[in-house]
Amino acid sequence: MTERYVVAIDQGTTSTRCIVFDRRGQLVSLAQQEHKQYYPKPGWVEHDAAEIWRNVERLGPEALRRAGATVDQVAAVGIANQRETTVLWDRVTGQPIGHAVVWQDTRTDTMVSELDTEPGADGVRHRSALPLATYFSGPRIRWMLDHHPGLQERAERGEVLFGTMETWLIWKLTGGLHVTDVTNASRTLLLDVHTLDWSPESLAFFGIPRAMLPDVRPSIGVFGTATAAFPGVRIGAALGDQQAALFGQTCFAPGEAKCTYGTGSFLLLNTGSELVRSTHGLLSTVAYQIKGEPAAYALEGSIAITGSLVQWFRDQLELITSAPEIETLARTVTDNGGCYIVPAFSGLYAPYWRSEARGVIVGLTSYITKGHLARAVLEASAWQTREVVDAMNADSGLALKTLRVDGGMTADNLLMQFIADVLDVPVVRPLAAETVSLGAAYGAGLAVGYWPDLEGLRQNWHRAAQWLPTMEATKRETEYANWQRAVSRTFDWIQ
Ligand code: G3P
Repeated sequence: MTERYVVAIDQGTTSTRCIVFDRRGQLVSLAQQEHKQYYPKPGWVEHDAAEIWRNVERLGPEALRRAGATVDQVAAVGIANQRETTVLWDRVTGQPIGHAVVWQDTRTDTMVSELDTEPGADGVRHRSALPLATYFSGPRIRWMLDHHPGLQERAERGEVLFGTMETWLIWKLTGGLHVTDVTNASRTLLLDVHTLDWSPESLAFFGIPRAMLPDVRPSIGVFGTATAAFPGVRIGAALGDQQAALFGQTCFAPGEAKCTYGTGSFLLLNTGSELVRSTHGLLSTVAYQIKGEPAAYALEGSIAITGSLVQWFRDQLELITSAPEIETLARTVTDNGGCYIVPAFSGLYAPYWRSEARGVIVGLTSYITKGHLARAVLEASAWQTREVVDAMNADSGLALKTLRVDGGMTADNLLMQFIADVLDVPVVRPLAAETVSLGAAYGAGLAVGYWPDLEGLRQNWHRAAQWLPTMEATKRETEYANWQRAVSRTFDWIQ
């Protein structure tokens, strides 16, 4: 193989990146663009899918230019994407129908509560291995079909298509291939996670026509060839971004886990070819599937708000001007001063799954400074991690021994130390920080033979940093009990 590079498209919640990697898995160049966030009503979050496509179209050639590379030197393109964000578009014009409804959006709250008690709900939960929650795409499709006149009929005729972001991008990249991968499909509530195909019963439950859904494919295997952005290059992989990070961290064996700290945070534990059902509030999800092989599954602890709490602190409260400043501000005090912030902005995800929960700040006194608030913001990410790790330990019957981390917030040493302290395990970060993109690149490279096997990829993983626990057990448990009392206050706010 003469091609020198693999390119990843990481289509995330706040920005899109195109990254060029070489055969050693090293980052050669990166081009990034944020896209607009629309908040039309409380709890609503939208994106413009056309804007996101324009960004990909521009960033692809830009990343290659920065690498000094040409498109014929690219072996394959891999896609990692924000999951559950729901796009509908017109098959003929290719124009999105309204804005995409983002994974954090809670507009389907009432509908989901009503559907939750219907007779077919248990079957949906069982086949998808997910709780019925606003987080997933299925209820959003139903909402969009209900709120655009005539859309249901058009969807039944196959004139309107549904996709999460990877489907939208593959459709645009190839000029009309309508496909998804098993990891993204497993976040819709519509997939049967055993057959790895759409469940006719679940589609009937939500009244969603099969004609609007993409075909479900393995995550790693050639999907088609791009005609735009990377003309002539094969699309070798598509994975939900959190599954891509698991792959990029080379957590290929059962028992291996990672947590990615981005807008939200997502802890995934590889459970191998066995689907493990959580009894402690975690999700079961498809981790990846290599074409021709059985799928690998994962248990997931999804936390909706971590990095976006820092953004809120910066943009809405204007107490800092850049995200990294939060660490400096938090270091102006030695503790949280008795203050806790529970960021239930989109309800609470794992392990609670309470969409009616709303955020609280508790323990305010005139002693509290913005330094204490900054600490409480950072500590919220750590305590939420503790909750999902506890759930994972209970589900797996094993205690997590180390936590592999990645994502933008891992640059915050105070937070990483606090996470090691509240989990009482070492926290380690790899040299390759861009694990989401790397996972998509690894998948695409494997699909076309650029990399031979998983074992070779493991050799690329090197530890860059480690934080060891230092907190006394009594302090840890007292603080945790305080956090949990604060969480209990979020449930009774909405009557
Ligand atoms: O499930 C949502 C998740 O995929 C979003 O990840 O990194 O785009 O915030 P991120």
